Amino acid sequence: MSEREQSFPALRERLRPQCERLIAQYERKRSALLPIVHLFQEHEGFVSPQAMEAASEMLDCTLAEVEGTVSFYTLFYRRPVGKYVLQVCRGLACAINGAEEILAYFRGKLGIGNLETTPDGLFSYEEVECLASCDRATCMQVNLEFVYSLTPQKIDELLDALRAGTYAVAPMAQTDAPSRTWQIAQDKQVSRGEKSPGAVGVSSPNNAGGLGDAAGVIMLDNIVNRDVTFFRETKERAVVDSRALVETLAKEADVAGH
Ligand code: FES
Repeated sequence: MSEREQSFPALRERLRPQCERLIAQYERKRSALLPIVHLFQEHEGFVSPQAMEAASEMLDCTLAEVEGTVSFYTLFYRRPVGKYVLQVCRGLACAINGAEEILAYFRGKLGIGNLETTPDGLFSYEEVECLASCDRATCMQVNLEFVYSLTPQKIDELLDALRAGTYAVAPMAQTDAPSRTWQIAQDKQVSRGEKSPGAVGVSSPNNAGGLGDAAGVIMLDNIVNRDVTFFRETKERAVVDSRALVETLAKEADVAGH
């Protein structure tokens, strides 16, 4: 058992009053899941299996529900990460504003790829989807603090200041040494690059946004270079909506008839 695992019961005890205060703020216990997981991450530097177990016990929900939530958000790390997590946006608005060059510049400067940590354990690097600051693309977060309008010069200054400890963002706790990647092995289908059962057996490996287009570059090329028409809704959505609409109209007709 690692030192961190051994000291986890003491940490849990120490955080208990704070967790209880968080839980008391909500009508339903499980609504406190995100703040509680944040709290553990703040102290351990990542969301450990022990933290997930503790959260499920405190909130009377299953471990699968906690894991499902934690794995959904890029702001939670399920493996130890560097003291500074650099999450650089590769969403559409950032891509149009030069994210591809920015991402390549980061990879070159750090000497690591997506979802990897530098050997000294200082930086973890991740290319993420839209960070909801499209008006100030290209952008990124350093330990969840925003940096906007990135340029190579800005990146140099940022990395220098982080290395020198003069950047105005605190390093994350680091209770376990990070390994090279914090990627969690997925099931066979996902690890083969097949995004969903619907993607299995897609005939062309070049289909935009699917097999062979993990970074979305082919999709972006199609949008920029081809005559693409977007429908207001997908077929599935239209089916769901139209059913809901029919039900609503039927109810209204019922009410009007009485
Ligand atoms: S696409 Fe980068 S912030 Fe939205």
